Amino acid sequence: MPEHTHGKATSNGIPLPDFELPYPDKPEVITENLMKLAALTKDDRARFLKVNLIRHLHQFITETSLTTKEWMSAIQFLTATGKQCTDIRQEFILLSDVLGVSALVDAVNNPPMEGVTESCVLGPFFTEDAPDVEIGESIASEGKGEYMYVEGRILSSDGKPIPDAVIETWETDESGYYDTQYDNRDKPDCRGRLKSDKDGHFAFRAVVPVAYPIPADGPVGDLLLLFNRHNVRPNHLHLMIQAPGYRTLITSFYPENDKYLASDPVFGVKHSLVVSLEEVKNEAEARKRGFPKGDTFKLLKRDIVLVPEDQAQKRYEENAAIFSKNALKA
Ligand code: BEZ
Ligand code: FE
Repeated sequence: MPEHTHGKATSNGIPLPDFELPYPDKPEVITENLMKLAALTKDDRARFLKVNLIRHLHQFITETSLTTKEWMSAIQFLTATGKQCTDIRQEFILLSDVLGVSALVDAVNNPPMEGVTESCVLGPFFTEDAPDVEIGESIASEGKGEYMYVEGRILSSDGKPIPDAVIETWETDESGYYDTQYDNRDKPDCRGRLKSDKDGHFAFRAVVPVAYPIPADGPVGDLLLLFNRHNVRPNHLHLMIQAPGYRTLITSFYPENDKYLASDPVFGVKHSLVVSLEEVKNEAEARKRGFPKGDTFKLLKRDIVLVPEDQAQKRYEENAAIFSKNALKA
């Protein structure tokens, strides 16, 4: 039997407020009272977030004259979203993705900087168990798709190469599934971890990315149908690059000419991340790069530029100042 059923029920121990809170006879008093309570929050940032959250949430309800039925269906939707989550499925992240929240949080935290590779959404398919591969090795087992060779250098925004940067990369196979979406996954595939060499150079074999649908079998899938929105992400290769002293970069490269680029359901595509793939048709080149068969592969050549952490933080703070000035004007 749960412990709280024993003895007298007790409060959480927080004392009564030492100021007057009028009874909420009028709707606006609900908001005002909550604001007075939120104002007691000691931490400046937490207070700022609470006050703004309450303001926007309450304003949404009054501005839309939300019906009881609508609010109940929102609660049921959120409940279903929670129930869909497991250790390997995060429906709330998917919800955040399709509502543009993940992309917006990323944009606020990683504003564009001259010459620096732009970031984009992480998505729910990153795993910790990518195998280590050497430069030039394959991240995909044979038969997983058309061959692609990816190469470039990891550079600092001052142009210097970054040696020993850790590069994690992951993608779907040619059927549009991540390895984690197969019930019989016994080992990671189409994902790998490598390090840049002393000149910042990296290279790996992979497969040409394909456009694929994000999971549609849960509440977020239902939401997209309700909004009349498709669920297909344009073809892309995910990358995460970490190097001591630099802002970790989470990004993707999007091969050009995909019909889904402009309507990505998770708002990940940025102009600077769209890449062209060169078709190489040369048997000797294919062998030299380690492809076991045929004479054709696609080549994705791209340098990746990281920004020192202190500069990234300074840029965030400048941008945050602009946002809060705008908020004050509103
Ligand atoms: C992905 O690209 O892996 C992804 C991103 C957001 C939602 C679903 C999938
Ligand atoms: Fe993806």
